[in-house]
Amino acid sequence: MVTIDWFHGPRDTLAELFELADDSATAIRAYRDLGRVLVARDGPSIIGHLQLVETEHPGEAEVKSLAVREDRQGAGTGRKLVERAAAVCREERGRTLLVATAAADTSVLRFYQRLGFRMSRIERDVFTPEAGYPETMVDGIPLRDQVWLSLSLHPPRH
Ligand SMILES: CC(C)(COP(=O)(O)OP(=O)(O)OC[C@H]1O[C@@H](n2cnc3c(N)ncnc32)[C@H](O)[C@@H]1OP(=O)(O)O)[C@@H](O)C(=O)NCCC(=O)NCCS
Repeated sequence: MVTIDWFHGPRDTLAELFELADDSATAIRAYRDLGRVLVARDGPSIIGHLQLVETEHPGEAEVKSLAVREDRQGAGTGRKLVERAAAVCREERGRTLLVATAAADTSVLRFYQRLGFRMSRIERDVFTPEAGYPETMVDGIPLRDQVWLSLSLHPPRH
C-alpha cells in the first residue's frame, strides 16, 4: 500500500527523484533544500516525492518538484501526491497552488490539467543550455519554453 507523508531526512536521499523531475543539476541545486517535501512510500521504499514551496505571495504555494519512480508511474501515485499537497495548502488557508513545467511535455500538461490546474502563462526560453538543460526534444517538440499552471484551492461557489 502506498502512503503519503512528510519527509524529514536529508534531501540527498531523494537525488534520483529530483533528477527525474528536472534535467538541470544547476537548477536543482538552487531549490532542492527549500520548502517541505511529501514522499510516497511503499513499505520501506520511497517511490515518489513532491516539493512544496511557499512563494512571495501570501496564500500561494508552488509544486517545485514532483516525480514518481519510472517503474511505478501510471498507478495513481503522482495524483495522490498532488492531491495531498492541495489538501495541505487548503488546510493552511492557501488560495492557489502553482506549478511550472515544460511546454514540450504534453503528457505532464495533461496530468496537471486532469487534476484541475489551468494554464496561466508561458515563459519562453527557460530551458536553455545556459541554465543547464540539454538541447533535447520531448515527443518531437524542442525542450525550450515553460508553462505555468495554477490550481484554485477555494473556487467561488455558484
Ligand atoms: C508526471 C508524474 C509525476 C505523474 O505521476 P504518475 O504516478 O505516473 O501519475 P498518475 O498515475 O497519478 O496519473 C494521473 C493521471 O495522469 C495521467 N498520466 C500520468 N502520466 C502520464 C503520461 N506520461 N502520459 C499520459 N498520461 C499520464 C494518468 O493516465 C492519469 O490519468 P487518468 O486520471 O485519466 O487515469 C510522473 O509521470 C513522473 O514522475 N514523470 C517524470 C518527472 C516529471 O515529469 N515530473 C513533472 C515535472 S513538473
